[in-house]
Amino acid sequence: MIKHDVLIVGSGLAGMRSALEVCKDLDVGLLSKVYPSRSHSGAAQGGIAAALGNSEDDSWEEHMFDTVKGGDYLNDQDAVEIYCQAAPRVIYELEHFGCVFSRTADGKIAQRSFGGHSKPRACFSADRTGHAILHALHEQVLKNAKSIKIYSEWYMHQLVVVEGRCCGVVVSNVRTGEVEVIHAKAVIFATGGYGRVYKITTNAFASTADGALAAFHAGVPLEDTEFVQFHPSGLYRQGILFSEAARGEGAYLLNGNGDRFMEEYAPSRMELAPRDIVARAEQSEIDAGRGVNGEACIHLDLRHLGEARIMERLPQIRQLGIDFIGVDCVNEPLPIQPSAHYSMGGIPTDMHGQVVVDADNTPMAGFFAAGECACVSVHGANRLGTNSLLEATVFGERTGRRALEYARSAEFAAFNEGHEKARVLKQIEEIFQRDGTESYNDIRNEMKEVMMEKCGVFRDADNLKSCIATIQGLQERHTKGRVTDKGRLFNTELYEIIELGNMLKMAEIIATTALARQESRGGHYRTDFPKRDDQEFLKHSLVYQSEDGMEIKSKKVIVTKYQPKERTY
Ligand code: FUM
Repeated sequence: MIKHDVLIVGSGLAGMRSALEVCKDLDVGLLSKVYPSRSHSGAAQGGIAAALGNSEDDSWEEHMFDTVKGGDYLNDQDAVEIYCQAAPRVIYELEHFGCVFSRTADGKIAQRSFGGHSKPRACFSADRTGHAILHALHEQVLKNAKSIKIYSEWYMHQLVVVEGRCCGVVVSNVRTGEVEVIHAKAVIFATGGYGRVYKITTNAFASTADGALAAFHAGVPLEDTEFVQFHPSGLYRQGILFSEAARGEGAYLLNGNGDRFMEEYAPSRMELAPRDIVARAEQSEIDAGRGVNGEACIHLDLRHLGEARIMERLPQIRQLGIDFIGVDCVNEPLPIQPSAHYSMGGIPTDMHGQVVVDADNTPMAGFFAAGECACVSVHGANRLGTNSLLEATVFGERTGRRALEYARSAEFAAFNEGHEKARVLKQIEEIFQRDGTESYNDIRNEMKEVMMEKCGVFRDADNLKSCIATIQGLQERHTKGRVTDKGRLFNTELYEIIELGNMLKMAEIIATTALARQESRGGHYRTDFPKRDDQEFLKHSLVYQSEDGMEIKSKKVIVTKYQPKERTY
């Protein structure tokens, strides 16, 4: 029997930071379907926000206001407050953990501008910030190997919930194909987002909604799933991230006529408006036929920054352009397009990472979540760039601390391990028995296509209804495929089929909640309801699994310091 006081699923920033907290006193299992340093946090490039004030005077209050305005006032402001207050301490702690930040000439941590932030507050390691932090945390985890056991390349199937208390997970060891039950006093999910439901995405292959769906199937609602962020600068047709740091350093966005079109959309912030606004501006230019060479892309122009600055501040972007499309941004602009990047919604939690199951914040005992898979909600309807690494770190720590307190006084629960295991074995066997003719690749591609076209930057009722119908048809076809690899050892095909099932459900949830929100706010833009409607919709959505599909309820938004105002830039 495998047992840990606290079992953490996901080994990105949130998972590893919470592990470091729990291991101060208890024993931790850290489980991930990838090797920890391959977690998607490593793809974050441009920076981590904190009001250090190293370049210009700054304060946590200004950071808070920018975050709330950027989130179109859907953020829970009590959570945003503690988050922005914690940021400077967290940066110095990461530095002491060994994270190498870029410096100013006088040796302070350098800070640069980012979209929607009124001050330069992105601390960075060139344009590999997520990578630098991920490796620093991984080193700390390895240093604590006595109390943190890592399970790399293990797949989490489902939660074990007994009488309303979470007491473990059912997992597969991908290498052997063995299904195991892990008993835990507390479980923390840090499983990341679900950008892979879209055709063009900056997200890693692992971002497939496993955590969100395991919670959903265990009776936990999902919060604000209609809010999906499109990053303005994904590589055209591929989605690979070209960091917003490029614009932070002064890069221009140009349409097919060579115009800096942001003048029309956000004259005071130009290329450094929040991402929802810039992505919509790009899509509007493309839809109006002003893409580059009539194609569905825009130009990101860094040429005027010069080679020396690009090599000091943005070396990865340069290399990605050279490696993937043979374009050196020192001499040529990069073709980009809006690309699915971040899920603002997720598993609802309180400010301590405790998962809650309703609008009154009733906890599910023993179950915690942090990072992108969770919805605290500090980002509201649209996250500002650099606020995600911060969220993962701040709430990773807080969640680890609360799970530790809980697990100290909890006992392992008794449950029927065989019964839990049997449910998963039955699901796997059913997949192996399928003898249909449907192609999982076709189903995956069709899902990504329809989500991009009908539930993307711009949405309306007709497209969303048609999107839901298509996704439901794909769910049906998913049961009629065939597994070509019937082996048990490292059967990635099997896990991809399970992931696809999760993504199809997630796609339906996103489109269904998008259809229900008849207003435009942050990353959710309805062309048939183009205005924000605080009267009807200043509320979070909570979607539950119900007998006849889904049920959507709502939850109050916590407004403390900043009353909703019109959002202009
Ligand atoms: O553009 C970027 O570097 C991404 C950062 C973020 O999503 O926070």
